[in-house]
Amino acid sequence: MNIILIGPPGAGKGTQAATLVADLDMVQLSTGDMLRAARTSGTELGQMVAGVMDRGELVTDEIVIGLIEEQLISSTSLGGFIFDGFPRTLAQADALNDLLSKVGQKLDAVIQMTVDDEALVKRITGRFTCGVCGHGYHEEFKAPIIKGKCDSCGEVGAFKKRADDNEDALKTRLMAYYKDTSPLIGYYYAKEQLQQVNGLNSIEKVGGEISKALSKI
Ligand code: AP5
Repeated sequence: MNIILIGPPGAGKGTQAATLVADLDMVQLSTGDMLRAARTSGTELGQMVAGVMDRGELVTDEIVIGLIEEQLISSTSLGGFIFDGFPRTLAQADALNDLLSKVGQKLDAVIQMTVDDEALVKRITGRFTCGVCGHGYHEEFKAPIIKGKCDSCGEVGAFKKRADDNEDALKTRLMAYYKDTSPLIGYYYAKEQLQQVNGLNSIEKVGGEISKALSKI
C-alpha cells in the first residue's frame, strides 16, 4: 500500500506518518526530513536549499524529485511507502506516477488532512523535537511526560525548534501550499484516489480516521 499524506504545514502529516510506520511497517519518505538531513550534514545540496527553506519557499521540483527517486530505488518496504510532503506541485505528482511505475508499484490512496489556518499557527509555533532522536512534541498537545526530557530516547535538555517555524515563514509556507499544492486535491479527486480526514480532531482520533480510510483500500 503506497499512500500520500497531503495537507498544509502543521496539518499533522509527520505525526500520523510516524504512527503508520510503527503500526503497519510502512516506510516514511519525507522530503522535508531529507532536505533537513542534507543541511545538518553540510552537503552542497543542504547549503543550496537552506535559505529557501528558512524563508518557507519551495525547493525546486528537480531537487525533490531526485531525492524521492533515490529513496524509491534504494528502499524496500513490506508495508509500502508513505509520501509525506511530496508531491507538492503538479510536476511532482506526474513524476511520482512515473517513478512508481518504474519500480513496479502504484499509488493506492491520497489522504487529505484538513485543518484551518488558525489551528496551524498554534501547532507550528508550539512544535519542538528532540535534537538527538528526532521525536516530535507540542507544548500543549503533545508535551513530554517529564519536562525537558525526551520520552523516546531519555535525553535531557536537547529539544530544538525548526528555523522555519515562525509566523513570517509560516505565511510564505501557507501561500505556497494554497498556490502550488492545493491544486493536487482536485487532481487526485478526479483520479478517484482522494480521501479526507478531519485533521482538527485529536492526534488519536485522526489516526483512527486514517486507519478506517486505509482499511477500505
Ligand atoms: P516539510 O518538512 O514537509 O514541512 P511542512 O509541509 O510545512 O509540514 P510540517 O512538517 O511543518 O507539518 P506536518 O503536517 O508534518 O505537522 P506535524 O505532524 O509536525 O517541508 C519543509 C520545507 O522543505 C518546505 O517549506 C520547503 O522549503 C521544503 N520542501 C519539502 N518538501 C518539498 C517538496 N516536495 N517540494 C518543494 N519543497 C519542499 O504537526 C505539527 C505540530 O502539531 C506538532 O507539534 C504535533 O505534535 C502537533 N499535532 C499534530 N497533529 C495534531 C492534532 N491532531 N492535534 C493537535 N496537535 C497536533
